[in-house]
Amino acid sequence: MIQPCGVRLAGTGSAVPDTTLTNNDLARILDTSDDWIAQRTGIRERRVSAGAPDPVFNLSCLAGQRALDMAGVKGSDIDLVILGTVSGEMLCPSTACRVAAALGATPAGAFDIAAACSGFVYSVNVADSIIRAGRAKRVLAIGCDAISSVVDYTDRTVSILFGDAAGAVVLERCDDPAKGCRYQTMSADGANWQHLYMPYRPDIVPECDRANPIRLGNLRMNGREVYKFAVNRFREVIEDAFQKTGLSVDDVSQVICHQSNARIIESAIEKLNLPREKVLVNIDRYGNTSAGSVGLCLDELNRAGKTPDGQPFIMVAFGGGLTWASCVWDK
Ligand code: UT7
Repeated sequence: MIQPCGVRLAGTGSAVPDTTLTNNDLARILDTSDDWIAQRTGIRERRVSAGAPDPVFNLSCLAGQRALDMAGVKGSDIDLVILGTVSGEMLCPSTACRVAAALGATPAGAFDIAAACSGFVYSVNVADSIIRAGRAKRVLAIGCDAISSVVDYTDRTVSILFGDAAGAVVLERCDDPAKGCRYQTMSADGANWQHLYMPYRPDIVPECDRANPIRLGNLRMNGREVYKFAVNRFREVIEDAFQKTGLSVDDVSQVICHQSNARIIESAIEKLNLPREKVLVNIDRYGNTSAGSVGLCLDELNRAGKTPDGQPFIMVAFGGGLTWASCVWDK
């Protein structure tokens, strides 16, 4: 019999590379400008791994260790490591296996979740469910991407948008059933995968992209289509979270959004009348960090005391797959 329990957010951590790539740096190698990028995306600069070895592994280890430190636990106290990523250095083994070993968590279970920008929210949702099912006591959930390592820097649509980052949380079983994930969704529409994809074989390149110069292993994006999808889905996902939980924006401390494009976040703020102080926008400093973004925001807010105990917060994300996800967390 499963004993009812709650899930406590015991610690958060994040990590970004040291190297900053500004819009002006990009304008020196591409037909673009600081003004164009800032106006269309809200981005001023992003952090990139700049050829550093093993970026997803290293950023995940750093963020994971910081979350363990805040939680006051060791790697050996962790039962399971879940890592949301689509840019890990190898498909096999999963990056999570190497991260677990490096943090001293062996023989904890470990696996990656490939849900692109939704990877962190998917990972937290799965971690919460596994703990509630009684299968693990303490889980390290991480979202990390180093998209700069899979970007074609001659493609100005993709390269201006992305940066590298990792965000992590330690989640642990607790006796208070009111703590943890009160509501969650994980959704996908695989029929529209070709709007955001990373081909490893020429035969998988969709018809619409065959005439274009494709670099295998690099991210391809139909920006306009993803933009339309994101604007609509973003609003729906937040509305759904409020509706299904009966919460209003006054009840939550923060609506933590995937940092896809400042215009997409701005449109949600306006349509849903969200107070600006409850929606962190840090895309100007970090760009779109894919699976890293929501965990990076959560850590920044948590360390600033902006996700107080006793008040729920919402996390929402969407991206390649196409995927989207939400999580209403009672802290
Ligand atoms: O994280 C989840 C996944 N990703 C997203 O959520 C991204 C969603 N999409 C976007 O953020 C936007 O579509 C982009 C920022 C990628 C592009 O912005 P846009 O306003 O959709 O631009 P566009 O693709 O419609 O292009 C408008 C114009 C075009 O020129 P013409 O055809 O009007 O003459 C492009 O060639 O801007 C041109 N353009 C650029 N100009 C300067 C496209 N990229 C650039 C650039 N610099 N980097």
